[in-house]
Amino acid sequence: NSGMLLHVLGMPRSILEGLEKYGEESGRILVYEPEKIKGVVVSGMGGSFISGLFLYDLLSDRASKPILLNRDAKLPSFVDKNYLLVTVSYSGNTEETLRVYLEGYRRGTPIVAITSGGEMAAVSDRLGVPLLRLPPNVPPRAAFPYITAALASILEIITGVSVLEELRQAAEDLEKSLEASLGEGVAVARLLRDDVKSGLTPLVYGYSPYLSPAYRFKTQMNENAKVHAFFGELPEANHNEIMGWGGPLGRFTVSIIRGREEPEYMRARIEFLEGVLKKNGVPLYNLYGEGGSRASELLSLVFKVDVASVVLALLLGIDPTPVGTITELKGYLE
Ligand code: PA5
Repeated sequence: NSGMLLHVLGMPRSILEGLEKYGEESGRILVYEPEKIKGVVVSGMGGSFISGLFLYDLLSDRASKPILLNRDAKLPSFVDKNYLLVTVSYSGNTEETLRVYLEGYRRGTPIVAITSGGEMAAVSDRLGVPLLRLPPNVPPRAAFPYITAALASILEIITGVSVLEELRQAAEDLEKSLEASLGEGVAVARLLRDDVKSGLTPLVYGYSPYLSPAYRFKTQMNENAKVHAFFGELPEANHNEIMGWGGPLGRFTVSIIRGREEPEYMRARIEFLEGVLKKNGVPLYNLYGEGGSRASELLSLVFKVDVASVVLALLLGIDPTPVGTITELKGYLE
């Protein structure tokens, strides 16, 4: 049952390994001229989506070109041959992502595939589409470090932001804070175990640029611990969801994913929300990023929430790795 935990604990090493491999490989396989690319569309589902959001959090406000994230079986109509389409599917067999890949190919959109094999690798070999190959035998969501490194190496070339060095530094920072972050993840998992057992549903709030660890926490609790968990985005949730507290339905336990350098406007909004939660007796856990850069904070947060979700699964007596119903869905769609 601890295979998933080993993957999580190996996160800093796997990031460094991935950066070394894909940093060099991307320069070689990317045959498109960066100046001619107007923007990048990153398309993927589930565990193959999250790295796009992570890198969006990290660099979209500095990138010279727009980065668009797609979690659908279709492509927006404006995506044409002036965009770069990066399709991410760990298995290479996810129907939605394959549809997007083929749609992009039909439109003449330059494509880079990130996959461990499957249909996407086979078609790319046939069509001569550049491909970054992920290591085999890793559960898709545990391939986060490799997918992130591969995608970062492409985005660095296209957007001109030196993201590889930032990630390398972040992985080294995470190695140094590993024990403390592990301890925090385990502590949160214990609290959540008690909450879940007493019938509360986890709800995770995040805000830009820390949306990826917040969304990751929700999806990791779903897939690893097999519990319902939901995600809300601040400050927007304060303008609607906030009305549910004290209402007749729903019993939640709330986690807020936060950066150390919180802007004043965000702090005030979170403070208000905290007051509302307290008044309604809702358990609240704040998780903060570690390290002096945005990359380090984001990576340490992903690590903490990954640990928390896997340990939550183990404490509930659940094997974190299999995702039976998702596998059934894929079989049904074949
Ligand atoms: O983590 C998982 O197992 C899922 O979220 C998958 O990533 C998702 O179903 C998409 O599959 P793939 O990553 O193979 O494209």
